[in-house]
Amino acid sequence: MSVEEQFTFLEVTKAEEVAKLAAKIVANNIKENPKIVLGLATGNTMISFYRELVKYYKKGFISFSRVKTFNLDEYYGLDSKSKTSFRNFMNKNLFDKVDIKEKNINFLDGDVKNFEKECKRYENKIKEVGGINLQILGIGVNGHIGFNEPGSSFTSVTRKVKLSQSTQKVNAKEFRGKEIPKYALTMGIKTILSANKTILLAIGGEKARIIKKTLEGKITKKVPASVLRKHKNILIIIDCKAGE
Ligand code: F6R
Repeated sequence: MSVEEQFTFLEVTKAEEVAKLAAKIVANNIKENPKIVLGLATGNTMISFYRELVKYYKKGFISFSRVKTFNLDEYYGLDSKSKTSFRNFMNKNLFDKVDIKEKNINFLDGDVKNFEKECKRYENKIKEVGGINLQILGIGVNGHIGFNEPGSSFTSVTRKVKLSQSTQKVNAKEFRGKEIPKYALTMGIKTILSANKTILLAIGGEKARIIKKTLEGKITKKVPASVLRKHKNILIIIDCKAGE
C-alpha cells in the first residue's frame, strides 16, 4: 500500500498554502455546522493557521458564536493568565479576535493541585458535548501530538505528563530565561483518536525526519503521531520542506 493510500488524504504544498488550506477546510466545516466542537492546538505552526481562520470571520463568512473549543494541552504549574500559557497564546491568536463565547472555550487548568480531578473533568466535558468533531494537530520534532511524548500509550486519556528533554529544549525559546515547565496536562492519544476528523499540519525542514517516520515507519509508541494512520478520517497537510 502506498503512503497516500493509508491516509484519507495527504497534501504537500507551499509553506504559505498550508495555513490557507487548513483554514479554508476548517471555515467550511464551521459554515456547515455552526455548532461544531473543535479541538485546537498551539505552537508556531498554528500562528498562520489562526491568522487565516480569523480572516474568514472578519469577512463575515463564519461566526464562532456557537462554536465550542477544547485545547489539547496546557503547561502544569502555570497560571492561565501567564504570558507563556497556552491559554494566553489562544487569546492572542484566536479567541480575542473572533466572537467566541467564553463559556464555549474549554481549557485544561494547569494551575490546580488535584490534576487527576481536572483531567477527569476535561474528559467528561468532551463526552458531555458529544465529542470533538474536528481536531487540529501540530507535531513535535520527536513525534509528539498534544504533549503525548514518545512512549505514550495509544490508550491514554487526558492526564499529567512529564515533558521530554527534547520538548523542554524546544520550549526554552518561549520561556527566555524563565523556569521552563517540566510537566503538562494533555489530552491522551485515545482522546485525540476519538475525534471524528483530524487535520495535522507541519511546516519546515526540521519536521522532515519525523514526518517521514510518521508516514512511512512502523506504527509505534516511539513515534506517537504514527498512530494517526489508524484514524478513520485524517488529513495531513505539510509543506515541501517537511515532506522532503
Ligand atoms: C501544542 C501541541 C504540540 C505542538 C507541537 C508543534 O498545543 O499540541 O503538540 O503542536 O509541539 O509545535 P510547533 O508548531 O511550535 O512546532
